Amino acid sequence: MSNDSTGKTLGVAFVLCIVCSIVVSTAAVMLKPLQLENKLLDKKTNILAAAGLLKTGADVEALFSNIDVKIVDRATGLYLEANPGLEGWEKSILDNPAAYDQRKSAKTNGQFTKLTSDQDIASIRKQAKYATVYHAKDSDGNVETIILPVHGYGLWSTLYGFIALKTDLSTVVGLGFYEHAETPGLGGEVDNPKWKGLWPGKQVFDAAGQLDISVIKGAVTGTTPNAGHKVDGLAGATLTSRGVHNLVNFWLGKDGFGPYLTKLKAEGV
Ligand SMILES: Cc1cc2nc3c(=O)[nH]c(=O)nc-3n(C[C@H](O)[C@H](O)[C@H](O)COP(=O)(O)O)c2cc1C
Repeated sequence: MSNDSTGKTLGVAFVLCIVCSIVVSTAAVMLKPLQLENKLLDKKTNILAAAGLLKTGADVEALFSNIDVKIVDRATGLYLEANPGLEGWEKSILDNPAAYDQRKSAKTNGQFTKLTSDQDIASIRKQAKYATVYHAKDSDGNVETIILPVHGYGLWSTLYGFIALKTDLSTVVGLGFYEHAETPGLGGEVDNPKWKGLWPGKQVFDAAGQLDISVIKGAVTGTTPNAGHKVDGLAGATLTSRGVHNLVNFWLGKDGFGPYLTKLKAEGV
C-alpha cells in the first residue's frame, strides 16, 4: 500500500493509538500501588508535621511507629473496639484500623450521615460515621498529642488536614493541610510555615469549656482581646481564611469530634 494512501495513514494512526494507550494504561496500573504508597507516606508525614514530630532526614515510618491509630464512632465519641459484636464493614475496620479510609467512607452508602445546612458550617455535606484519630506517644508510651483529621471548603476546594492538640485537649500543637486547591500566594498561604507557626499554643476552648477559636480578618496584635484564641487571617484570602475558621470550629464542635473530646476530658486520654 502506498505511503500516501488514506488507508495506510489511518492504519498507522490507529496502530499508534493502540500502542500508546497500552503503554499509558500499563504504566498507570503498574504505578498505582506506588502512588497509593506515596499518598499514605505523605499523609503520615503531615500527621507528624501537625504534631511537631517531623524531623528533617528522619525515617517517617520509624517516627510514625510511635503513633497509635484509633477509630472513633463520631456521634458517641466511643472507640470502635468498645462496641462488641460488630459485623460486615464495621468489623473489617476493626480488623485493620490503619487501612480505614475515612474519606472513602464519607462517600459510601450506609457509612455516612448527611449534615443539615445548620450543622454543615464547613460545607462538607456528608460525614463518615467513623473517624480516625491519632495518638502520638512519648518514649515511655504516654500519649503526648492527639491528632484529629479535619476538612472543609475554602474558596475553590475542600481543604484536608490535621489539627494536633496537647493532652489538655485545648492547646494547639499544630495545624496543617495535605490537600487543597486554593490559589498559590492567596488561599494557598495556608501552607506557609509562617502562618502555620501562628497556631501552636493557641487555645481552642475557653475556661468554661466552650469552643473558642477564630481565624480573624487581619492580624492578631498585643492589644487584640482574647488573642490566645485568635489567629491572623490570610491577607487577600478572607474566603479561604473563613473556610479554615469554619472547618476548625466544625471538627472541634458538637457535630465533629466534640463527643470524643468530651469523653476524653471526662475519662482522661
Ligand atoms: C484569580 C483569583 C484567585 C483568588 N484566590 C483566592 C483564594 O484562593 N482564597 C481566597 O480567600 N481568596 C482568593 N481570591 C480573592 C477573593 O476573590 C476575595 O477577593 C478575597 O478572598 C477577599 O479577601 P480580602 O478581604 O482579604 O481582600 C482570589 C481572587 C482572584 C482574582
